[in-house]
Parts: sequence; C-alpha cells; structure tokens
Amino acid sequence: VGHIDDVQEIRKAKPTSIPKRFIRNRAERPSLSTISPLSSSSTIPVVDLSKLVKGSGDEFHREISKLAVSCDEWGFFQVINHGIDLDLLESIEKVAMDFFMLPLEEKQKYPMAPGTVQGYGQAFVFSEDQKLDWCNMFALGVEPHFIRMPKLWPKKPLNFSETVEEYSRETRRLCQKLLSFIAMSLDLNKDTFEDMFKVAVQAVRMNYYPPCPRPDLVLGLSPHSDGSALTVLQQGKGSYVGLQILKDNTWVPVQPVPNALVINIGDTIEVLTNGRYKSVEHRAVTHKDKDRLSIVTFYAPSYEVELGPIPQLVNENSPCKYRRYSHGEYSKYYVTNKLQGKKTLEFAKIQAQ
Ligand code: SIN
Ligand code: FE2
Repeated sequence: VGHIDDVQEIRKAKPTSIPKRFIRNRAERPSLSTISPLSSSSTIPVVDLSKLVKGSGDEFHREISKLAVSCDEWGFFQVINHGIDLDLLESIEKVAMDFFMLPLEEKQKYPMAPGTVQGYGQAFVFSEDQKLDWCNMFALGVEPHFIRMPKLWPKKPLNFSETVEEYSRETRRLCQKLLSFIAMSLDLNKDTFEDMFKVAVQAVRMNYYPPCPRPDLVLGLSPHSDGSALTVLQQGKGSYVGLQILKDNTWVPVQPVPNALVINIGDTIEVLTNGRYKSVEHRAVTHKDKDRLSIVTFYAPSYEVELGPIPQLVNENSPCKYRRYSHGEYSKYYVTNKLQGKKTLEFAKIQAQ
C-alpha cells in the first residue's frame, strides 16, 4: 500500500472527497437504518473481574453467570476492574497516537510487506478491486519472541517499545485469567485451556481512523470475526462510538465504558467449545469530524498446538462441528484471506455429509 492509499494523507490532500476504492457497494454501507437505536437496551454486558478474582461465593457465582451469558449471547463483553493500571492504558494510547501523528516518511520506515500483517499499512488487501478500509494500521507480533520483527519496532515515539512490551505483559495476564474463568463458566476445570497457551501467540494492532467526509459510504474496518482465542480491545478516549457488533442481524454499537476493556471471543474459542461460545462479527465505522484510535491485542494458542472441540463439549446433543488442525495452519489461512465476516472459520468446519 503506497501513500495513495494512506487515509491520513488522502484526507490531508482532499478533505472533502473520497477515492472510489473506499466507496462500498450499497449493501455494505453503514446505513443508519441497520444500526440499533442507542436508546435500545441492547448494550453489551459489563463483567467485573475483581468479583471473579476475589469475590465471595455468591458474588463470584453471579459474575460467572454473567460471563457465561455474555459469551453465550453476545461473544463480547466489557471488563472493568481488570487489574491493568490506568496509567498504562493512557500510555499505550499516547504512544499509539504519537506514532500515527508522525510524518508519513517516518511511519513508512516500518512498512507492512504485502501479504503480511506486521508493520504500518493496510492488512488483508489482496487485489486491486478489493475495497479499502478507512483506517491506518500498525501491527506487531509480540510473543513468542521468534515472531517478532525487530526492524518494525519503531524508534519514535520514545518509549514506544517499552510501553508495548509492558502493555502486552499485562493483557497476557488478563487473558490467562479470563480463559480460566471462561472454562469455569462452562463447568470445566479452570485449567482446561492452560496447556494450549503455554507458548501463547500474542500480537498487537493499533487502528487509527481519521475523520471521513462521507462516513455513510465507507467502512473503518470490514466486518470480520477474529482468528484469535480472545481479543482485548481498548477504545481511545473521547471519541465517537465506532465499534459495532452483529447481533441478531443488527449492528449494535459498543458504547465505551470508562476505563473498561472490550473482550471478544475469537474463532479459536468457538472451535474449542464446539460452537457453544461463538466468535461474533464486528466492524468499525467512521465519523465526519472526529478521529478514533483502537488498540487491539490478539491472544491465541501456540502454533503447533492441535485444536479441535474439547471432548467434554462433544456429545450426542452436540456432535463435533470442527475438525482438528493446528493454530499455525489457521493463522496462516486467516492472514492470507481478506476480512469477510465469519468466512475464514469455514476452514475449521466439518462439512455436512
Ligand atoms: C478490530 O476489530 O480489530 C478493531 C475494531 C475497532 O476499532 O474497534
Ligand atoms: Fe476484530
């Protein structure tokens, strides 16, 4: 992706029009009529992690039930009292924003090579006729160490790397905790998933959505489900509501809760739970006057781990829906296909006879 597809540069050069490649077909446009009204009661559940970590019996059970309902019915929840220092959330936001505000030449020292998902640019673009998202991305593989591409870790802004390092350590701990509570919410032993995540794969992606002159014609980010097991999403403060999730065929906006992190179930948990907890399609929309930042952490099993529904969740009433494969195979498949709803998960489905 050259400078001609860099949305910040497009906006600078032509503040009132948008190039054709960003204009969606009618069916894909974020028409306001498909968005559930904000007054509706459909807001995604909020889970209080402190009640899971140290709550009394009753409190704990109430919160675990809430977690179960969130995963069953929404595939998304917001977590409060997550234990991550609020200063760190502010710091990651600051270094991310400072990075996006650097001159293009500086950011292009860390280019995302075509067909890869690390560096600065637009991921998941494979053909000239594919529509582009109104978004600039910067993504880095973090763990295990061998997936890192040190040349892509920026020298500016100062403290960028240290902040990403610390943030990733904290989000990893959060994901480990959440996985054990997710297991418990399914009446499974709390360490059910532990071995698969011994050498967990972790990546961070920062998304920057500049204001867009025609938010009705473009998407900030195409609809997709995540290939991860869990995703931690931090929405930048003081912006518009940009994230939407597909629930009962309606795009529901995710209203940010102060200091909360948004958690969503990825394709890998859907497979491990034999479809009990589903990954949910989501997308981002843009705004006429406001910009938006999101910081996304993907947490996934070791590449070599064999995945498939765990035996406890396969039975007569719930026959095995997914085949066995390694996370490495899935990951490769995911990053070499464009984002298109939940289509990537077809890879794992057992085809009906
Ligand atoms: C994502 O799904 O990667 C990000 C969506 C958002 O910006 O909220
Ligand atoms: Fe996502």
